[in-house]
Amino acid sequence: MELFVSYKLPKHEEAAFNLAKEFGLTCLFQGDIDKKENNLSYFFVYKPDRSCIRRGSGNLSRDIYCNFSDWSVNFKDPLLSRCLKGLPEKFTALDATAGFGKDALEIAKNKQCQSVLLVEREKWLFYLLQEGIANAEIPEVLKFINKFSIKNVDSYEHLSNTKSNFDLIYIDPMFPGVGKSKAKRSIQALRDLTKEIETDGLLDLAIKKATKRVVVKRHKNSTYLEDLKPNYSVKGKVVRYDIYNSS
Ligand SMILES: C[S@@+](CC[C@H](N)C(=O)[O-])C[C@H]1O[C@@H](n2cnc3c(N)ncnc32)[C@H](O)[C@@H]1O
Repeated sequence: MELFVSYKLPKHEEAAFNLAKEFGLTCLFQGDIDKKENNLSYFFVYKPDRSCIRRGSGNLSRDIYCNFSDWSVNFKDPLLSRCLKGLPEKFTALDATAGFGKDALEIAKNKQCQSVLLVEREKWLFYLLQEGIANAEIPEVLKFINKFSIKNVDSYEHLSNTKSNFDLIYIDPMFPGVGKSKAKRSIQALRDLTKEIETDGLLDLAIKKATKRVVVKRHKNSTYLEDLKPNYSVKGKVVRYDIYNSS
C-alpha cells in the first residue's frame, strides 16, 4: 500500500516536502487530496509538534503515532514480561524490529532493564520514534524512555558490525493476519507499510550475539522463525513468544 507525506497548512509546505524527500515519498497538500481515490492509501501527516500516520484522508481516520505516555500507563503485556524473567540485574536489550516502540517500552518497564536499543530500518518510522521520545515529558514515562537509544539501520547489519553486548535481543517479525480478528490500527499500518524481515539469518546471528537470550514474537500458529526450534515457548491466545537461550 502506498504512503504519502501530507500537510494541512501552507506554512508547513517546505518542511513537509523536505521530509518527503528524506523518506523517498511523494508529498501532497491535504486540500488537494481526492478523498475517493485516496481512501486506501496511508498518509504521513506532517505537523511540527506531532506527526502521525493516517489511513485514508477521511475524518474517521485516526492518528497513529508513538504514544509512549498512553502505553506507559494503559498497556501491559504480561506474556512478554514473563519472557524477561531470570535476566540479570541491569540487563541490556536490543529490539531488532522496533516499529512503533510499543514492545521496546514493555521491555524498558522491567525494573531490571538498564537500556534498550531500538533498531528500525524505515526512515518514517524512525522519525515517529524520535518524535515520540522527544514528546515524552512526564516522569512516569521518562523513567522508561530514558533507557532508550535508537538507530535507523538494518538490524542484521548492525548486529554484524557492533562490538556492544546485549543480554537480550528481541525480534518481532511481521506475521500475516490470521482468522477473523481485526488487527489494531497501528499493527495493520505496519503490516500494510513495512516489509517482512527478509534478512535470512537474523535469528541465527542474534542467538550468536545475545549473551543470555533471544525472544521472538510469533502468531500462535506460525512456524518457528528460520525453522529454528526454541528452548521453550510462552503461549497466549493469539501470540506465542519463542525463547532461545544463548550458549
Ligand atoms: C511487526 S513490526 C514490529 C512492531 C513492534 N514490536 C512494536 O511494538 O511496534 C516489525 C518492524 O520491524 C522493522 N524491520 C523488519 N526487518 C528489519 C531489519 N532487518 N532491521 C530493522 N528493522 C526491521 C519493520 O520496518 C517494522 O517496523
